Amino acid sequence: MQPLHDSRAFALGFLGMATNLHSNSPMLTKLIASFIGHQKANRASERSRGALELPAPEREGGEPLLRALSRRHSSREFQSKKLPIQVLSNLLWSAFGINRPKSGDRTAPSALNAQEIDLYVALSEGVYLYAAKPHRLELIAPIDARRISGYQDFVDHAPLDIIYVADMRHTLARIEGERALQYAAISAGAITQNVYLYCASAGLATVARGLFDRKALGEALGLSDHEEVLLTQTVGYPG
Ligand SMILES: Cc1cc2nc3c(=O)[nH]c(=O)nc-3n(C[C@H](O)[C@H](O)[C@H](O)COP(=O)(O)O)c2cc1C
Repeated sequence: MQPLHDSRAFALGFLGMATNLHSNSPMLTKLIASFIGHQKANRASERSRGALELPAPEREGGEPLLRALSRRHSSREFQSKKLPIQVLSNLLWSAFGINRPKSGDRTAPSALNAQEIDLYVALSEGVYLYAAKPHRLELIAPIDARRISGYQDFVDHAPLDIIYVADMRHTLARIEGERALQYAAISAGAITQNVYLYCASAGLATVARGLFDRKALGEALGLSDHEEVLLTQTVGYPG
C-alpha cells in the first residue's frame, strides 16, 4: 500500500500557520526540513529499555463520564514533566487496552473486531509499541521521535506522543480497498476520544494532530508497506 503523503492538507496547514511564524521559528525550520526530506529523529538522550512493564491499570475511579465529557477539549500548552508510570498505564489501557480478558476485546471498537490500530508511544527515551495483552511497552527504536511527530513546537518537549498506526494486514483479506482504511481511521478516532476522555478525567492536556511528516515518521518507526500512520496525539500536564 502507498503511504499517504497528504500534501494538500500539509500545504493548507502550512499556509494557515505561516502567518504567525517568525523566520527563526523551530516550526518553520521543521516544515522546511520536511519539504526537503531532512526531518530526522534525535537519538534518545536517556537509556532506552527493551520493554517497559506497566503496572495493572486502575479500572475504577476518575471523574464521572458526563463531567469528563463537559471538560474534554484540545490543549496546546504542555509542561515537559514526565507522566508517572501508573498514569501511563491507565492512559494506554483507557485508549485501547483489553477490557474483557476472556475474549481479548478492547476499550475501543473496530470493524469486524480487526483491532488494526497499533499505538506507538513516543517518549523521550524511545519509541515503544503498546502490547495490550501483556500490557507493556516494547521498544521499537531508541530514538526521541517526538520532534518529528509534529510541526508544532510543543510536541518537542511534551512528555508523550501517541502515534496511531493502521496495520492493514488485519483487514485487507476481509474488507475491500479504501473501506479498510476508512474503518481503520474510524477506529483510530474512537481510541483518540478515549484518550481525550481519560485526560479530561485525570487533569491532563491533550491534542489530536493530523499535521506531521508522514514519511519521516514512517521511516523512524520502520513501518512496512502494509502499515500507515493515521494520526498523532500529544499528552502531558497542562502548561
Ligand atoms: C483528525 C484531527 C486532526 C487534527 N489535527 C490537528 C493538528 O495537526 N494540530 C492541532 O493543533 N490540532 C489538531 N486537531 C485538533 C482540532 O484542531 C480540535 O479538535 C478542534 O479545534 C476542536 O477543538 P476541541 O478539540 O477543543 O473541541 C485535530 C483534530 C482531529 C480530530
